[in-house]
Amino acid sequence: MRSDTATAITAGPRGVPLLGNLPQFAKDPLAFFTALRECGAGQVTWAMGRTPARFLNDPALIGELLSARESTFSLPDLGWSFRYLMGEGVVVAKGDDWRRKRSLVQPSVRPKQVRAYAATMADCARETAERWSGGERIDIRREMTGLTQRIAVRTVFGTDAAVREDVIGRCMDVAQRQMGAEFRGLGAMLPDWFRTPGRLRFKAAVDTLDAEVARIVAARREAGGERDDLLSRLLAAVDEAGVPLTDREIRDETVTLYNAGHETTATTLTWAWYLLSRNPKAREALTGELDRVLGGRTPGFDDYAELRWTEAVVKETLRLRPTVWLNLAVAEEGATLGGEPVPAGTQVWISPWATHRDPRRWPEPEEFRPERWLDGAPDAITDHTWFPFGGGTRACLGARFAMVEAVIVLATLGSRFHLDTGDEEIRPTVGLTLQPDREVLAVTRPVPAPAR
Ligand code: HEM
Repeated sequence: MRSDTATAITAGPRGVPLLGNLPQFAKDPLAFFTALRECGAGQVTWAMGRTPARFLNDPALIGELLSARESTFSLPDLGWSFRYLMGEGVVVAKGDDWRRKRSLVQPSVRPKQVRAYAATMADCARETAERWSGGERIDIRREMTGLTQRIAVRTVFGTDAAVREDVIGRCMDVAQRQMGAEFRGLGAMLPDWFRTPGRLRFKAAVDTLDAEVARIVAARREAGGERDDLLSRLLAAVDEAGVPLTDREIRDETVTLYNAGHETTATTLTWAWYLLSRNPKAREALTGELDRVLGGRTPGFDDYAELRWTEAVVKETLRLRPTVWLNLAVAEEGATLGGEPVPAGTQVWISPWATHRDPRRWPEPEEFRPERWLDGAPDAITDHTWFPFGGGTRACLGARFAMVEAVIVLATLGSRFHLDTGDEEIRPTVGLTLQPDREVLAVTRPVPAPAR
């Protein structure tokens, strides 16, 4: 079955009648994708139930697929809960509607804007650092979720009195839990009209959220003026014809940005603390860099360029624990990959989890080695050997935002505390994102202030 030809197509593991490889996929998707990678060929065919599927190993083909979306490949339906929460926002929209939305949202997350959000990120991280004391036991995932939630509320909706962080946070929590449950279980297969108790709770939370966002938008329109938040940028955005976003569209995009950015970043940070705790040398190098660059002060946007090791820690975390662990597109009429036709309706899957630990491309792939990202490292983004933020036409709009957020949070907290997670191994498990399989508990250990 093994082929050395990157562009070769080979058949994956044998499936069972009717279900194909679905049982293997459902049992352990990460192991299944690893097995497909080990088939060696550029494309591996398998069966998702009765639907023909392919898995891509070859980075050039991965790049081709990512760039062909919205032309010869389309996005699959993400399910009722996604649609109900995100409406017609940029993550869910397709075709011309998506093109218009993407061009309207993109300017709000440009580096110039991210610079303004960085101050909010640092303020929120400092509040967390000030709440922690030495020697206490914390649940890292809970802490990071609370922190990125505050950052998301304040960078998306602002800090006006009209913004009730607790109400938004609670509703989003309920919504995200249900989306995760639907993704893991059979929920995605239920018809849209079917209401489980979980779906009823979800719907109630989203309806409350809608009322909350409508109130915030009305208050902002009345008050007028420019602020340093995403809502302000979206209210000011106009399309090519000079048409602004409607209130419904503003609702969809704010909720979308909040959702796309909050749990993904919280999970990345949780894994980063865990990996740092298990790799003391990498953590020492982090402390050294933070002492040298910050000397005890809180980081800002301008420090990002100097915090090279901190950035490398985040990139290496995203390599080993890619929060978004899979991606897929569906072939349309006329689709090709590597010059070969792909029958319409075929699901084409790629997995950062499998590709990011391919020994043919990453020496010692299981090792946490941030130094691989420093000077002279090949550009893994253009090579498509590292794609935690996807790529091509529908690449993550918040990649810069997320990198700056993760670096600022790690730098602010890491210059004051080490988080010791102990010796117990924590494994990844899949839901909507790649989550730790249990609580990530840690003891906070204060870092001595830098000698001046
Ligand atoms: C570590 C954190 C994050 C990770 C790992 C991540 C990952 C991803 C991935 C894999 C995609 C799909 C890309 C593709 O299909 O090519 C995506 C899409 C998207 N992300 Fe992120 N993301 C993160 C943070 C953020 C943040 C902070 C925001 C917003 C501020 C954001 C906004 C979006 C949007 C709007 C899309 C949809 C783009 C489109 O379909 O045109 N993400 N993200």
